[in-house]
Amino acid sequence: METVDLTMFLIVKSEHGERVHGLLKHEGWLDAEVEPRHERPGEIGFPLTAAAPTDDLADWLKTTASIAGFVEAHRGQRRPSVDPHRRLRRAVNTWLDANDLALDGASLVPTKWEKLGDLALLSRHVASTEEWAIVCDHADAEALWRAMADALNVGSLGVQAPIADDTFRSAQVDMLLGESDVAFTDHGMTYTFDAAKVMFSSGNITERRRIGNHDMRGEVVVDAYAGVGYYTFPMLVHAGAAHVHACEINPASLAGLRAGGEANGILDKMTVHEGDNAVSLAGLKGVADRCHLGLLPSSEAVWEACLLALKPSGGVLHIHMNVEEEHIDTWVNKTVQRFTVLSEHHQRGFHCEALHVERVKWFAPRVRHVVLDLSLRP
Ligand SMILES: C[S@@+](CC[C@H](N)C(=O)[O-])C[C@H]1O[C@@H](n2cnc3c(N)ncnc32)[C@H](O)[C@@H]1O
Repeated sequence: METVDLTMFLIVKSEHGERVHGLLKHEGWLDAEVEPRHERPGEIGFPLTAAAPTDDLADWLKTTASIAGFVEAHRGQRRPSVDPHRRLRRAVNTWLDANDLALDGASLVPTKWEKLGDLALLSRHVASTEEWAIVCDHADAEALWRAMADALNVGSLGVQAPIADDTFRSAQVDMLLGESDVAFTDHGMTYTFDAAKVMFSSGNITERRRIGNHDMRGEVVVDAYAGVGYYTFPMLVHAGAAHVHACEINPASLAGLRAGGEANGILDKMTVHEGDNAVSLAGLKGVADRCHLGLLPSSEAVWEACLLALKPSGGVLHIHMNVEEEHIDTWVNKTVQRFTVLSEHHQRGFHCEALHVERVKWFAPRVRHVVLDLSLRP
């Protein structure tokens, strides 16, 4: 634990501890960042804030609560803060002081980050300042990265860059410390992948859970954009799907998909189709009870192939799309119409019905990531 400068403590008998703690807290005189002292048996010392009237405190305590006490100065022990923002601020300021740098600490403190197992990915905004560039070039920069990682209780640290606008939707990460390989458990499922090569949207957690809550017992499912198993795993582990055909093109995601499948003990219920789903879906006609179409901004490229992937008995499609808030209803109606036309065109004879529209998250101002659950039944 970190030692702090001299702090004033109000020492009272332990039996009065709870009462005095309450009184000091009520007055705003208790310094919550410093540990209380238990130096002498039967006594407790409460650390005081600068606002406390230390000269008159003993008299005040006597008058207010008929409790005897006295004030003493000691070196305190700083309490590890439960607030990671505060811990980060402290890490940055301590490092700046140690290196005699007169930089604006506030601009160096990350305000947003994403934790993936033992890795914290800082939002890229923090890395856009001049101060950040100076720190990156500093000979002792690693000590700051380590202090920030400690503040966030992780071993590895990176800065997130925008998701690449490529087919793979690759992650772009500048690693500052440690490894980009991650493994973590989410809702009872293990995900494991190289976070520098694969994007993982923690914000889709509600959708992963919602998909896992469907009853898919006995069903064969096609996951057209399987990634590292974002939806394949909940469908097998929680929803009870009998088998998932998982299509994926990115070699880094394929490695994560297989490793996660193994870690979750479901590899025997997965067929991994490597490469472009335009090719793999052509070989999956009439096999599925359900298809998952999880690509943003649009999964339209596989709408037709997924309609054809359904068994003659039909099934359900989960269609992801980014849609402007005010156009969601129109988009749903148009999508239902489009599938009706496609179904007629391919003589599938399905009746198309929107079962549910899930608003997953805001993708951009006014633009929502939505999922349409579409039923297609004869
Ligand atoms: C955006 S990711 C899925 C992200 C996920 N929805 C989440 O919650 O984080 C989409 C995946 O589809 C894969 N993909 C894109 N185009 C593909 C294609 N034509 N065939 C197969 N997989 C493809 C990408 O490599 C990526 O792993």
